[in-house]
Amino acid sequence: MRVMRDRIHEIEQQVMRELEKRLSPEELQELKVRTVGKKGTLTALYKEMRDLRNEFKREAGQLINEVRESLEKAFADREGEMAAVLMERRLREETLDISLPGLPVRRGYQHPLTLVIDEIEEIFLGLGFSVAEGPEIETDHYNFEALNLPKDHPARDMQDSFFVSEEIVLRTQTSPVQVRTMQKMCPALPVKIIAPGKVFRYDDDATHSPMFHQVEGLFVDKGVRMSDLKGVLLLFVRQMFGEDREIRLRPSFFPFTEPSAEVDVSCMICGGKGCRLCKGSGWIEILGAGMVHPRVLEMGGYDPAEVTGFAFGMGVERVAMLKYGIEDIRLIYDNDVRFLRQF
Ligand code: PHE
Repeated sequence: MRVMRDRIHEIEQQVMRELEKRLSPEELQELKVRTVGKKGTLTALYKEMRDLRNEFKREAGQLINEVRESLEKAFADREGEMAAVLMERRLREETLDISLPGLPVRRGYQHPLTLVIDEIEEIFLGLGFSVAEGPEIETDHYNFEALNLPKDHPARDMQDSFFVSEEIVLRTQTSPVQVRTMQKMCPALPVKIIAPGKVFRYDDDATHSPMFHQVEGLFVDKGVRMSDLKGVLLLFVRQMFGEDREIRLRPSFFPFTEPSAEVDVSCMICGGKGCRLCKGSGWIEILGAGMVHPRVLEMGGYDPAEVTGFAFGMGVERVAMLKYGIEDIRLIYDNDVRFLRQF
């Protein structure tokens, strides 16, 4: 029994000595398991107790219980202190310093398309044009028929269309705004508008998107001539791409203009010598244009014997890509801030 008693006290004193040290929460837990835990050294003594003579069993059991209780209390006290210290430390470390400066908010930028449309509008407003609008979901009538493109006209294939129904189409061009505006304004003169907006075509690659933007131009008055068209476009191109740009008109075909032209601008990279951008030709196509077809003037309510007009349509993405040197149209729609931040 003396041996037993010594061992019990030895464990007790050992634990008490350990508890004097500055134990970490993990070390404390480990010490507890090692001694008063299920497989701990003190707990193991209950088993050995059975080998004692009967008269000592009771005494030994009592002693182990007492020591165990006092140790458990010592552990609980230590844990309590530790929790208080931990809490105090957390409170100290996690306080919110409201005097710290806030996180900087990054400045926003205007989208390159917005910049280009604004700039185009600015130039034409300066020439006395006003801004008109039309619906993006358009009738077959305004998108095609009123523009001299009857139902089975082969030129409809020039623009692969998204039809909503037999009679409704996502507009493939901003040209329907020509007729809508004339109908609204007739018989007033002049009709002098640009119409920026979204258009839709079944097309998708590095330079074509199924949705893109155009700016339409229309000038109807008495005595409007092809030379007026050329003068306005030259002025526009020089303001947009630089004072030393030239333009050239190539004969072309659109059902709603006669004559029709495709308009090229002298290359803004090589100035006309020929480079990768202009594919060696020195010229870059930027828009379609022409004199408003008499049938279209009639559709708008005007008498083609009295008035003439010119019209043009340009792709905004194309202008933006040329102006800012953007090589892939998809960058314009990805909305990656690393791209947008550059404008
Ligand atoms: N609507 C034509 C197109 O989308 C461009 C154009 C507009 C041509 C006005 C002539 C006159 O290709």
